[in-house]
Amino acid sequence: MSIENTMHENEKQIINDDSLIESYDYRYDDLLRAQLHSADRAMFSAMFQFGIDSNQFGKRLTAHQFRVAREGARLLRFIGFSKIAAINFKAATLFHDIGKINDLYKPQIWTLKDRPTSEQKALQKRHAALGADMWQEWCVNEAPEIRTHPHYTIRRAVTKYHHERIDGNGPEKLSAADLPVFIRISCIVDAYDRVRIKRPHRPKRRTPKEALRRMMALDDAQNKYEGAFDVDLLTKYVEMKEQELDIRILQ
Ligand SMILES: [Fe+2]
Ligand SMILES: [Fe+2]
Repeated sequence: MSIENTMHENEKQIINDDSLIESYDYRYDDLLRAQLHSADRAMFSAMFQFGIDSNQFGKRLTAHQFRVAREGARLLRFIGFSKIAAINFKAATLFHDIGKINDLYKPQIWTLKDRPTSEQKALQKRHAALGADMWQEWCVNEAPEIRTHPHYTIRRAVTKYHHERIDGNGPEKLSAADLPVFIRISCIVDAYDRVRIKRPHRPKRRTPKEALRRMMALDDAQNKYEGAFDVDLLTKYVEMKEQELDIRILQ
């Protein structure tokens, strides 16, 4: 087995462990307070500033990340995870799209007027892996002690794998057995936000009901979300949204 494969296997074992997300508290952990809290504020500000002189993409990006982090934290609580797990998930997921501000990108690639070309799409898709690399590089250079902390593993995993699919057809080709609940949740809540976002080629926002039905692959035979999500978790998410919004998704 090559070194690359060995590393990949180890990484899979580490992330597929849901007790990890309950094993510390981002708010009060000594190491994270000393080495990460102020850096996180700086990183969040850098994301907000991205494109500030052109298309203001950073504002949208940070708002999206905030919604995804909050929604995932709520779903974790809804299915019985602790408040600490929800807080840790939020602190990790607020940065899940940091790869979108990688030096490789100009802000305009994220606000195209038309659908992206296949090259643009391929470049956009790299943001998850690039983001995980950025986080790793930051840790190596600025706070190497954090690399053995579970929050490092969780944040890197959410960043790298939030576009994976349960059927194994995501960017890193991981499948159900490789993906812990918190990653499966990040995939669901991130997709919900993307499906609802207004785009130049889709000026009318989908309603929550339309978005969730699309994610459940109910209305469209050629639905790209067929087989993408953990069905039990998606069902729970639908239940949560039905209660929250007082709507019925299946009728
Ligand atoms: Fe993403
Ligand atoms: Fe995202």
